[in-house]
Amino acid sequence: MKAYKILIVEDDQKMNQGLVYVISKEGYATESVDSGEKALEKIKNTQFDLIISDLKLPGIDGMELLKAAKRYDADILFIMITAYGTVDTAVSAMKQGAEDYILKPFDMEELRLVVKKTMEKRELFLNNIRLQQQLKKKYTFENIIGTSETMMAVFKTINHVKDSKATVLIRGETGTGKELVARALHFNSDKAAKPYLPVNCAALNENLLASELFGHVKGAFTGAVSDKRGLFEAADGGTIFLDEIGDIGPGLQQTFLRALENGEVQPVGSFERKKVLVRIIAATNKDLEAMVEKGGFRKDLYYRLNVVIIDLPPLRDRKGDIGILAYHFLKQYSVQNNKSINRISQEVLRLLENYHWPGNVRELENIIERATLFEVSGEITKDSLPSALTKPPFVSDAKSGSKDIKSLEQLSKNHILNVLEMTNQNKTQASKLLGIDRSTLWRIMNRLEMN
Ligand SMILES: Nc1ncnc2c1ncn2[C@@H]1O[C@H](COP(=O)(O)OP(=O)(O)OP(=O)(O)O)[C@@H](O)[C@H]1O
Ligand SMILES: [Mg+2]
Repeated sequence: MKAYKILIVEDDQKMNQGLVYVISKEGYATESVDSGEKALEKIKNTQFDLIISDLKLPGIDGMELLKAAKRYDADILFIMITAYGTVDTAVSAMKQGAEDYILKPFDMEELRLVVKKTMEKRELFLNNIRLQQQLKKKYTFENIIGTSETMMAVFKTINHVKDSKATVLIRGETGTGKELVARALHFNSDKAAKPYLPVNCAALNENLLASELFGHVKGAFTGAVSDKRGLFEAADGGTIFLDEIGDIGPGLQQTFLRALENGEVQPVGSFERKKVLVRIIAATNKDLEAMVEKGGFRKDLYYRLNVVIIDLPPLRDRKGDIGILAYHFLKQYSVQNNKSINRISQEVLRLLENYHWPGNVRELENIIERATLFEVSGEITKDSLPSALTKPPFVSDAKSGSKDIKSLEQLSKNHILNVLEMTNQNKTQASKLLGIDRSTLWRIMNRLEMN
């Protein structure tokens, strides 16, 4: 814990000594003075976290000191001690920005508790400031946030390979930022002014994908009414991002291999080969090595692709990045939605850090976006988080002998509903998290009468 500095302002010498004794014993660095004037002198030269002052002082009194101190440092905390016992004075002190008040006579335990509570608040405030400052620091790539060692290693690799022609394979679970890294590689490279063309290999069947990438000639297949230039040609000099490369079929794998080995493409239905100079970045959330072993992915293509590998760690393995990412998204969505939320409660930060993030950074982004919309105070609180984060994970009660055993159907339904909530009702992302494809999810939801 940081060594906090507390200034005690009390003209009664015995009382002053008593306060210093109790507060130093709590481990705080303590200084004391016997007048408001001396207190003001002190705060000009030293940064205090808290001032504990008597209201009644000769010369500048506690209330004037409070106002002056707040003008000097708006974040300084203040506890007012008042002997008059009137709630009115205490209330006006709070209105002027005091954190708390203590009515004389008080016992030392009461004082200890009030100080403890106030300092916990200070700790929280400073933690938030720290996170915000970290965010302001310049990172290697402005839109990729992260200070964990693993992300630093990623930034380093991007820097090393961005200008080379080497093929890069980006691996990582869904939502870890593969596309973000692909874009960073291209837009920070010497090819930045040339095209960057992303292709989702999982979205098209093999024939369509081949024609999309390599082009086709008129009459190559039904519907090919004219010649079409492929993306490889269109991207000449730039980058093609082959997303979800693990999903391409065996025929295309071979064509790819040729394109990578010779730098040549052959439009569908043509005998002509064309030379292209394109940088390939591929990404996958599949275990390509295991696929190679099982014969689902060509070994030679795998070796062609993995000249440089960038592994993006799951968010749960870099907990240190969670707070800073959450603040990054808070800032973004707060501005976007015209809200003035600029803090995240300590409780929420803890919940975020303890969650297992199956949808990684994308899921965190969705949760903060949603919280920004729902939050009514100036700070993200637990109330605006989805239940997946605030409730303990579901545990089957079958073993406990409970009579209230849920059917598998009910469990599936609940689970699907939770995952949909996590992904803002995005079925494509939800199906990825559930490990099934979109049409299977659709079928299950139909069967469970959820559509
Ligand atoms: N380190 C990061 N800093 C800031 N934003 C990030 C970071 N990582 C991911 N994001 C954000 O999270 C979202 C998901 O990232 P992205 O689309 O790159 O993930 P992906 O790995 O390609 O996921 P998928 O496998 O599902 O396609 C994006 O909105 C992206 O901007
Ligand atoms: Mg992606």
